[in-house]
Amino acid sequence: ANPTLLILAGDGIGPEVMAQVTRVIDWFGAKRDLAFDVENDLVGGAAYDAHGTPLHDDTMARALEVDAVLLGAVGGPKYDDLDFSVKPERGLLRLRKEMDLFSNLRPAQCFDALADFSSLKKDVVAGLDIMIVRELTSGVYFGEPRGIFEEGNERVGINTQRYTESEIDRVARSAFELAKRRGNKVCSMEKANVMESGILWREVVQRVHDADYPEVELSHMYADNGAMQLVRAPKQFDVILTDNLFGDILSDCAAMLTGSLGMLPSASLGAPNAEGRPKALYEPVHGSAPDIAGQGKANPIACMLSFAMALRYSFDQGDEATRLEAAVEKVLADGARTADLMGPDDGAPISTTEMGDAILAALDAS
Ligand code: NAI
Ligand code: MG
Repeated sequence: ANPTLLILAGDGIGPEVMAQVTRVIDWFGAKRDLAFDVENDLVGGAAYDAHGTPLHDDTMARALEVDAVLLGAVGGPKYDDLDFSVKPERGLLRLRKEMDLFSNLRPAQCFDALADFSSLKKDVVAGLDIMIVRELTSGVYFGEPRGIFEEGNERVGINTQRYTESEIDRVARSAFELAKRRGNKVCSMEKANVMESGILWREVVQRVHDADYPEVELSHMYADNGAMQLVRAPKQFDVILTDNLFGDILSDCAAMLTGSLGMLPSASLGAPNAEGRPKALYEPVHGSAPDIAGQGKANPIACMLSFAMALRYSFDQGDEATRLEAAVEKVLADGARTADLMGPDDGAPISTTEMGDAILAALDAS
C-alpha cells in the first residue's frame, strides 16, 4: 500500500503554499514512482466555518492513523474575536496534544544564495545546516503548580519547571536518532549549574547516550553559553537538544541566522508506531500571513521543505528529500525570488505559482 499523507492546508496563505507542494507531491508520484495516498481536510478557521470547530473529531482520528500530517497555517483576523475554545490555533494545539508530539525539530539551514539575508556575516552562516530538537510537551510551560497567588500583601506569579526521566529519555532518543542520519553529533543544552531539572536532564541524556548511542558524539553546554555560541560560530553544531523553554528561544534565534520566515520548515514527532515510524506533523514555521493572503505573494518554500522533512523522517526517502532540497537550492541560486526574499529595489518578485513552476522545472532537470 502507498504511504498515507493527510494534508490540512488551513487558512490564509496555507492553501496557497500547499497548492504548490501538492504539485510536487504529484511529481514524485508520476516521475519517481513514489505515490502517496493523499487526503485533504480542514483545520483552523476553515474547519470552524464548515463545522463550528477548528478540528473535527473525524479529522483528528485520521491524523492518528496516517503516516504523516502536513499542515499549512491557521488563523486570521476573521477569527480573532472567537471564543478561545474554538480559535483556529486550538485545532493545531489539539493535533499536537493528542498525537503527543514531544519532539519539535527546527532546522536552520542557510542556502548560499540567501546568505546575505542573515543577520550575521556571510562567512559565519554560509553552508550552515543545524537542527534544533526542542522538547515540546512538558517543562515550565506545563508544570504544576502554576498561577498567580496571594502571598502576604502582594501577588506572586508561579510556573514550575518539571521534567520526568522518561520525558527526557524519549526526546533524547529522538535527537540521537536524528544525529545518526546527519552529522552524528549532539550538543545538549540546559542550565545544570543552577537548575535541578537541568542536572537531571544532563544525567539522563548522558545515560541514554552511553547505553544506546555511544557512537554519536555528545557534548553538554549551558544554554546561555549555547545562545552565545549560536550567534558566534553556529557551524560548530549539528543537532542541538534542549528543553521546551530554552528551545523556544534558541530555535527563534537560530531561525534568524538563515533569513526569511518564508524559508523555515519544522516537524513535530511523537512515539514510534508498530513499524517504528514516529507520529509526525510537518508544518512551516510561519503563520497564515493575512497581510499577503490571496495575492499570490507567499513563498511556498517553507512548506515545500516541510514536505522534504516528511520524505526523510516519515517515509525513509532521504535521497528524494535531498533531491527536493537541491531543487530549491538550484532555483534560489538561479535567482528565483518571491517578495519576501527581496529588498525594495531588487526588481520584480515572482509569484507563489511561479516559484512552484521553477521548483518543478528543477526537479524535472534533476
Ligand atoms: P505570520 O508568520 O503569518 O506573518 C509574519 C510576517 O511574515 C508577515 O509579514 C507575513 O506576510 C510574512 N510571511 C510569513 N510567511 C510568509 C511566506 N510564506 N512568504 C512570504 N511572507 C511570509 O505571523 P503573524 O502575522 O504574527 O500571524 C498571522 C496569523 O497567523 C495569526 O492569526 C496567527 O495566530 C497565525 N499564526 C499561525 C501559525 C501556525 O499556523 N502555525 C504560526 C504563527 C502565527
Ligand atoms: Mg517562539
